[in-house]
Amino acid sequence: MSLQEKCPIFRFGDLGDERGKLVAIEGERDIPFEIKRIFYIYDSDDTVIRGQHANRESEFVLINVAGQSKVRITDGKEEFVVDLNRPKMGVYIPKMIWKDMYDFSSDSVLLVLASTHYDGTEYIRDYEEYLKEVIKQ
Ligand code: TYD
Repeated sequence: MSLQEKCPIFRFGDLGDERGKLVAIEGERDIPFEIKRIFYIYDSDDTVIRGQHANRESEFVLINVAGQSKVRITDGKEEFVVDLNRPKMGVYIPKMIWKDMYDFSSDSVLLVLASTHYDGTEYIRDYEEYLKEVIKQ
């Protein structure tokens, strides 16, 4: 399976009407995991790179609910970049995939849905260490 097949882009249905738009996302239905945690990143800008890690246990879906950012995704062999620029699109990031988020617009609100409660010990923050671990899989 290619990296892009492992990390699909989801296009969520828009339940909008004349009052405005509405996107609903249900765990295990619209995305492949039960949602245990959400967090969101804002007040970043185009000078910072966030992420820069892989997770041994967590799966994520990243959605820019306002503004835009980019996420560079790699498994150590292939790489691709997703423009997160619509509130109704998200990218799925499975376990053991390295990601960097950058080019945040000043109004960017990057919502992250996660399959786990936070545990800092499941993060791999050193790219060389990541390459060593991912190659064993
Ligand atoms: P960090 O992982 O560096 O954020 P990013 O992925 O955007 O680069 O997290 C920043 C801080 O927030 C760090 O001290 C850990 C803490 N944190 C939590 O306590 N819970 C969470 O769910 C997340 C994602 C981070």
